[in-house]
Amino acid sequence: MKKSSEMNMTNETFLLLFLISFVIILFLLFYINKRHILIKTILEFMQDYKRGNMGSLLMIKDESIIGELAMSIVKVLEKTEQQLFEAEEKTRMIEATLRGMSDGLLVTDIKGTIILANQTLKRLLGINITPEGKDIIEIIRDRALVEIFRKAMDTWEILTEEVSISINEKVMYLLVTAVPMYRPTSITGIVFTIQDITRLKRLEEVRKDFVVNVSHEIKTPLTAIRASAETLIDSNLYNDELSFKFLNMIKSHSERLNTLVEDLLVLSRIELGDMPIEKNRFNIEDAIDTVILTLKEKANSKGLSVKKELPGEPVIINADKDKVIQILLNLFDNGIKFTEKGYVKIGAENKAKGVKRLFVEDTGIGIPKSHLDRLGERFYRVDRARSRELGGTGLGLAIVKHLVSAHSWQMTIESDYGKGTIVSIYAN
Ligand SMILES: Nc1ncnc2c1ncn2[C@@H]1O[C@H](COP(=O)(O)OP(=O)(O)OP(=O)(O)O)[C@@H](O)[C@H]1O
Ligand SMILES: [Mg+2]
Repeated sequence: MKKSSEMNMTNETFLLLFLISFVIILFLLFYINKRHILIKTILEFMQDYKRGNMGSLLMIKDESIIGELAMSIVKVLEKTEQQLFEAEEKTRMIEATLRGMSDGLLVTDIKGTIILANQTLKRLLGINITPEGKDIIEIIRDRALVEIFRKAMDTWEILTEEVSISINEKVMYLLVTAVPMYRPTSITGIVFTIQDITRLKRLEEVRKDFVVNVSHEIKTPLTAIRASAETLIDSNLYNDELSFKFLNMIKSHSERLNTLVEDLLVLSRIELGDMPIEKNRFNIEDAIDTVILTLKEKANSKGLSVKKELPGEPVIINADKDKVIQILLNLFDNGIKFTEKGYVKIGAENKAKGVKRLFVEDTGIGIPKSHLDRLGERFYRVDRARSRELGGTGLGLAIVKHLVSAHSWQMTIESDYGKGTIVSIYAN
C-alpha cells in the first residue's frame, strides 16, 4: 500500500517537472522567435534603405536591447539624411553661383588636370567639349594663357596677370588670377578666375587716344595765336599801352596752355608706350649741369641760391639721359616755385649695392603730410590757387612718377611743412 502511494508521488512529480520544462521551452521558443522577427525587421529595413527607399519607417516598440539598437539606427540614419540634404543644398547653391558668375572659373589639381570649369569659362575660351578630367594644356590652346597657368603651378603663389588672346580672329583682353588651394599640410590644386576686360581696355585706349587727339587739335591754333601775339609785340604795330598789355596777356596764356598740352601729350605718350626708354651709361653731373643751366636764372631772379652736391668720385647711371633731365627739371622747377627764401639744391650720391640716389632739396613752403600720398596724381596740387598763380598745372610730378617707374626706380618725398622738401630717386 505504502509502495503504491510512493509510486504515485514520483509520477506526479515527474509530470509536473515535464509540464514546467514544456512551458519553459514554449516560452523560450516564443522569446527567440520574437527576437528573430525583430532582427529580421531591422535587416529588411536596412536593405530597403540600401536600395534607396529612404521613406520606409522602422517602427519597433520594444524595450529590449534590440529595441534600443533599432532606435539608434533610426537616429543615425536620420542624422545622415539631414547632412546629405544639407550637402545637396550646398552643392545646388554652388552650382547656381558658378552658372551665374560673370567671370570664368577653372579648378585644376596639382598635375593640371581640370576638376571644374564653369559655363562662362567655356564661352570665353570657346571650349565646346567637357573639359573636366582633361589636362589643362589639352584644352587651352593659347600659349600666353598656358604660360600663366604654368607659372602659377610652378610658383604656387597668388598671381594676377593681364593677357591678350585671339579667339576666332577676335582679340580679347583677360585678367587671370590664380589662387592655390591649400590643405593644412599640402597644396591640392589651383583656382583660376578669368575676367574679360576687353571692353575696359578699349575704353582706356579711347580715352588715351582722345587726349592725344584733343591735344594735337588744340596745339595748332594755339601756336598760331602765340606766334601772332609775338609778331605784333616785336613789330611795334600796337600804338598804345593797353594793346601792349593785352598782347602780353595773350602771349603768356597761350604759353601756359602750350605747356599744359605738351605735358598732357608727354603723359599720354608714356601711357601708350610711345616713349621707349633708351638706356646709356653717363655721368649724372652732365644732366645736373643742364638742369642748373636751364633754371639758374629763374632761381636767382627770386633771390634763391642754387647748390650742387656731388661726391669726389663720379656718379655713373645707366638710364635714358633725356628722361632723367626731364625728371630733374620738373623737380628743380618745383623747388624754385615753392621756395621763397634760402636755396634749391640738386645732387647725387653712390649708395650701397650699386644704387645711386639723385635728389632735389629746397628750403621752401613744404608739403603737409596728409597730401604726400596723393602727389603725382594728374592735376593734384596742395594749394590749387597758389600753384596756378605760379604757372603750374599739376602735371609735373605725374610725369616724374611715370618716368621713374618706367626705369623701375623708386621715388620718395620727405617734407617738413614750412621748412622744406627733399625728393629722392633711387636708381639701380
Ligand atoms: N618742392 C615742393 N615744395 C612744396 N610743394 C611742392 C613741391 N613740389 C610739389 N609740390 C606740391 O605738389 C603739387 C604738384 O606738383 P606738380 O609738379 O605736379 O605740379 P605743379 O608744379 O603745380 O605744376 P606743373 O609741374 O605741371 O607746372 C604742387 O602744386 C605743389 O602743391
Ligand atoms: Mg611742377
